[in-house]
Amino acid sequence: MDKKMENYYKIDEWSVVEEGFDPQRQEASESIFSLGNGHMGQRGNFEERYTGESLQGSYIAGVYYPDKTRVGWWKNGYPEYFAKMPNAPNWIGIHIRMEGEELDLHNCKISGFRRILNMKHGYLERSFVAELNSGRQLQVNSRRFLSMVYDEIGAIRYTVKPLNFSGVLELVSFIDGNVVNRDSNYNEKFWEILATGAQPGKAFLHARTRKSGFEACFSMMTDLKVNGKLTSLEIQPLQQEDFAGNILKINAVQDDEIILYKYVAILDSLNYSHDQLIEKCGKAAQMAYDKKFDRLFGEHAAKWDEKWSQSDIIIEGDPSAQQGIRFNIFHLNQTYTGRDERLNIGPKGFTGEKYGGSTYWDTEAFLIHFYLSTEHESVARNLLIYRYKHLDKAIENALKLGFNTGAALFPMVTINGEECHNEWEITFEEIHRNGAIAHAIYNYIRYTGDSGYLAEYGLEVLIALSRFWRQRVNWSDVKGKYVILGVTGPNEYENNVNNNWYTNKMASWTLKYTLQALDLVMREFPIRYKSIIEKTSFRFDTETSSWQDIINNMYFPLLEERGIFLQQDAFMDKEQRMASELDPSERPINQHWSWDRILRSVFIKQADVLQGIFCFEEEYSTETIRRNYEFYEPRTVHESSLSPCIHSILANRIGEVEKAYGLYLRTSRLDLDDYNKEVNDGLHITSMGGTWMSIVLGFGGLRIKEGMLSLTPNIPKKWKYLSFNLNFRGRNLNVGISDKHVDVLLIKGDPLKVEINGKIVNCFQEKTVLR
Ligand code: BGC
Repeated sequence: MDKKMENYYKIDEWSVVEEGFDPQRQEASESIFSLGNGHMGQRGNFEERYTGESLQGSYIAGVYYPDKTRVGWWKNGYPEYFAKMPNAPNWIGIHIRMEGEELDLHNCKISGFRRILNMKHGYLERSFVAELNSGRQLQVNSRRFLSMVYDEIGAIRYTVKPLNFSGVLELVSFIDGNVVNRDSNYNEKFWEILATGAQPGKAFLHARTRKSGFEACFSMMTDLKVNGKLTSLEIQPLQQEDFAGNILKINAVQDDEIILYKYVAILDSLNYSHDQLIEKCGKAAQMAYDKKFDRLFGEHAAKWDEKWSQSDIIIEGDPSAQQGIRFNIFHLNQTYTGRDERLNIGPKGFTGEKYGGSTYWDTEAFLIHFYLSTEHESVARNLLIYRYKHLDKAIENALKLGFNTGAALFPMVTINGEECHNEWEITFEEIHRNGAIAHAIYNYIRYTGDSGYLAEYGLEVLIALSRFWRQRVNWSDVKGKYVILGVTGPNEYENNVNNNWYTNKMASWTLKYTLQALDLVMREFPIRYKSIIEKTSFRFDTETSSWQDIINNMYFPLLEERGIFLQQDAFMDKEQRMASELDPSERPINQHWSWDRILRSVFIKQADVLQGIFCFEEEYSTETIRRNYEFYEPRTVHESSLSPCIHSILANRIGEVEKAYGLYLRTSRLDLDDYNKEVNDGLHITSMGGTWMSIVLGFGGLRIKEGMLSLTPNIPKKWKYLSFNLNFRGRNLNVGISDKHVDVLLIKGDPLKVEINGKIVNCFQEKTVLR
C-alpha cells in the first residue's frame, strides 16, 4: 500500500466517504471504516466474499491469546509471550450465490461504489452495483452498526436487487470460526471451536481461545423482507465443525428488493460462565431480533447523540480540520466506554492486530485526558483502577527482575498485568511508564477533586512505585548525586542511556507526590491510612527519609550555558544536525536507515524532554519552555504518532499558534490522510487522544489551577470559531472561542468560577462572554 491517501476520502463534517473502489486501498479503508462499541470491534471488511487483499479483523475486548515469544537468544527477564487480541470468528458474513455463480468484489465489475462512515450516528453504509462474469447485475446496499446501547449486539441490514435478471438467488448468512491472525509467531490457530448449531432462521458458534481459555459465543438470527414484506421461505440450516449459518433461497424477480436483516449477539466468558454462555447468547440475539433493526438502530443513534453532546468539537472555517477532529473523537468514543474496569485501550483499539490490543503507557500519558474531560469521572477512574488491580502482578514483575520489598514495575505492554513486551531495549527499558501511572493519578485528582481515590486505591500504587524508584536509582560517587542508568526514554531512537532527564524527573516527582499523598491520607483518612501502612509493611521513617534524600540529590543532566535540560548524559557528543537537513528521500529515517545509524544520530522520535516539560509545565517559566522547545523540536523527526500533539501544545504555550496549527494538522488527519503510510495496520487511537489534547489543552489552553478551570485560548487564524464541551466536577460546559471573544455556557450543574485569560468570572446557565 503505497498510494497517496491525502484527500482520498471526501471532506464532510460528519462522515468519511469513499467513492469508487480501489482494491489497493482496501486494507487502509478497512481500518478507516472500523466500528466498535467498547466491548467489541470490527474492521470495515466486506460482508460478501472478497478474495482480494484484506485484513479480516473482528475483536472482543479483554480476550487475548498468549503468543509464545520468539527471540534468537533467550535472556532471563524476557516475557514468555506477547498477548494478542485474536481475530474472532467472522460474524458479518453474507455471501450471495446465483445458480453456480458467486459475488466476489475482487472478480467482477463494480460501479457506483460508495462507502460511508457516518460518525454522527455510528454506522457503516456501503452501496455498489456489481456485474458478474455472466453479465448479471446486482445492486447492493448494506448498513451495519455495533450497538452502543447493547454492547453485545451487532446488526446488519443487507439489501440486494437483481437489476437485469430473474432466478434463484441464495443468501448465505453465517458465522465462520475458520479464522487466523496475520501476526502469529508460530502460525498457530488462536481459536478452537467447541460447538456449532443451526436451525432455520438462526445459528450459533461457540469457540474457545487456545491456551488462555476464553470462551465466546456468537448467535445469529435472520429476517427477510421482499419488496417490503416479511417473507417466510425455504431456509436451509448450514452446520459444519467451524461454521454455522443459513442458506436463504429466493426466487427473485428482476427489480425485487430483497432485504436480509442479520442480528448477532457476541457474549464471552469474561461475563458469563461456560454453562450459561450459549443460552444467554441465544436470548440476546432473540432480544435484538424482537426489537427489529430500526428500533435497535434508533436507540443506538440516540446514544451517539448523547456522546456527541458531551464530546463534540466544532471548528468553523476549516472543514478538513473539522472532519479530522470528529473522526478522532468518534474512534475514541467507540474504543473505550469505561463500563468495565478490566478493560483498557490498545494503541490501535479494535482496528488492527498491531500492538496486540495491549495496554501501553499511552493510556495514562495520552488517552485519559479525553475521557476525564468528556465523560463522567468514573470512566477515567476505571482506567486507574485497571492498574490498581494489576498492582500485585507489577510487584511480582519487579521481584522477578531482582527488586524487593513491595517495589512495583508495571509492564510496558500488558493485557492482564503481566509484562508481555517483545523488545527488550526499546520497550522494556522504558521504565518511565511507572512515572506516567503516578502522574495519571495526580491528573485525575487534580481534575475531579476526588482525593478519596488516594485513600481507596492510589496511595498503595504510589508507595509501590516509589519503592521501585528508590531501588532503581544508584548513588554516583563521581557526580555526588543519584543517577538512573540503562533506560530508554520516550524517545525510542536512543536505547540504554544513562540519566534520561525525563525518567529522572518522573522518578523524583513520584517520590515527592507520594510523600504528599501519605500526608493527605494520614490527615484525612486516618483509618484507611493505618490499614495501608499495615498492608504494605511501610516503615515510615526510613522509607520517607530515603525518598527525601533522593529528591534532594537527584542528578539532572543540563546544558547550563544554553539553559537546556539535556535529554541524557553525553547527548551533546552527538553530531548536532537538524531534521530539516535530512534529505526528504531519507525520511522517515526508520524506513531508510539502519538501526545502528538511528541510535547514533541526534534525531528524536517523539517528545522526550518536552514530554516532561508538558507534564510539569507549571514549574517552568515561558522562557525555559521556549528555550527547550526551540532546541529540541528542530531535532525531532516526529516518527511516532504521539509526537506532534505534545509539540503542538507546547508551541501554543509559548505563543507560536501557527506553528502549533501545523503540528496539529499532522495529528488530526494522520489516519485519514495516512501520513505514516501504515493505516492498513490499524488506526492510531493514542494519537487521537493527543489530537483532542492539542485542541483543548493547546488552542483552548485548558488547565486546572487549584481546583478551577482555567482557559487561555488562542486559535489559528484560519479558524473562525472553536467550541468544545467539558465535563467538570458534575457540570457540563460548552466553551466557545473566536478571535474576538470567549464564551462559557454552563449546560448542567451548579454555577462555578472559571479563569479566562487570567480573569476570574462566574459562570451561570447563560452564556458568560468575555471580550
Ligand atoms: C511509541 C511509544 C508507544 C507505542 C505504542 C511507539 O511507537 O514510541 O511511545 O507507547 O508506539 O503506541
